Amino acid sequence: MRMLIVGGGGREHALAWKIAQSPRVTALFTAPGNPGIARHAVCVPLTADALDGLVAFARRERIDLTVVGPEAPLVAGLADRLLDAGLAVFGPIAPAAAIEGSKAFAKDLMARNAIPTARFATFADPARARGYCREVGPPLVVKADGLAGGKGAIVCRTLADADEAVAECMERAAFGAAGATVVVEEFLSGEEVSFFALANGADALPLAAAQDHKTVFDGDQGPNTGGMGAYSPVASFDAAMERRVMDTIVRPTIAALAKDGAPYRGVLYVGLMLTAEGPKVIEFNCRFGDPECQALVVRVPGDLVPLLVAAAHGGPWPEVGPWPTRASVCVVLASGGYPGKYGTGAAIEGVESAETAPGVTVFHAGTALRDGRLVTAGGRVLGVTAVAGDLATAIARAYGAVGAIRFEGMHYRRDIGRRRPA
Ligand code: AMP
Ligand code: GLY
Repeated sequence: MRMLIVGGGGREHALAWKIAQSPRVTALFTAPGNPGIARHAVCVPLTADALDGLVAFARRERIDLTVVGPEAPLVAGLADRLLDAGLAVFGPIAPAAAIEGSKAFAKDLMARNAIPTARFATFADPARARGYCREVGPPLVVKADGLAGGKGAIVCRTLADADEAVAECMERAAFGAAGATVVVEEFLSGEEVSFFALANGADALPLAAAQDHKTVFDGDQGPNTGGMGAYSPVASFDAAMERRVMDTIVRPTIAALAKDGAPYRGVLYVGLMLTAEGPKVIEFNCRFGDPECQALVVRVPGDLVPLLVAAAHGGPWPEVGPWPTRASVCVVLASGGYPGKYGTGAAIEGVESAETAPGVTVFHAGTALRDGRLVTAGGRVLGVTAVAGDLATAIARAYGAVGAIRFEGMHYRRDIGRRRPA
């Protein structure tokens, strides 16, 4: 098989690392990739938003399967375009990717199909949105409808905060057109878990759960980031909980999209709150999480490619062995200042020595090569990932490897994998 991975972050490095190990793969390309990915794939200078270029490349190179990492090209219709060109793709078509691209669409789908989620209403008028905030009462959450780079959900402790959030989205257009419509919803309390399932248009196959650590500082303090680390599996998410989420959330969602003429093929990322009343959906994403993907792929037993193929082609699921009882941790090393303003171009030392530790893989997120030296090129720079027989050992291995890596301004959380249930 000739394969193409679209994207160039830590998630895509993890996918490339795993896919490159498949005996079925004869050629692997990544667009645009990064220096870590370049160890496993040929990097092509096309960014994930260059839809025309990506389709032309896949056609010219006779790519058998394109795996799309990030959400933006899926929401913009990359899968539709590849299918129109007669090419296979792992990742949903735009009307199914709308489950992430429009929170109003996702909430409406859940409401129509009795899929458990926070009580909500959708507004295009700020005065009405403010009125509903008073009906729900704080705490509540105001969400920009469209893609907002993970910043579009504003948790409001008071009505004054809620009024401010409505103004920010709808009157000051802080998220551009994405915030012209908002979803206002009740605040859910509980433990937050990311669950991943594959879908082939008609039915779904559970993968695993992971937990992300979104804030920049230890103990869930400080501003939100894209994710400072993740671990898998999650103790509170046991086999019974997985069955319940598959039965009450994942399968009904895949069935509803199929019935509405938007069959979902790819990975469904379910952001869940495990509330006292049971699991409820916080959000759907149409892709793997970053850094959850890094923690997942090192646990996947056997070859991932047949699973991606079955999802893409709508075929039956191949036999998957039981997931070995292994735990994994991914610790993100970030640039000084991230998630605010940060510099780039700092020399990175010690990656090779970090990777000599047992069970450790270092996935590149924001790196570049300058005069043959590895330097920082983004906010999240590296994802130091370790797998072991148990979580405590995985944590010890990951942090041991982190100790070997240095760059100016480097910071990271010291409590990845040690999250306490809320
Ligand atoms: P989202 O962009 O929808 O993933 O929201 C970002 C973060 O806001 C989530 O990871 C949660 O921590 C928080 N959040 C979103 N919606 C709710 C909710 N209804 N109740 C509590 N927390 C929420
Ligand atoms: N780590 C959160 C996300 O990928 O959306």
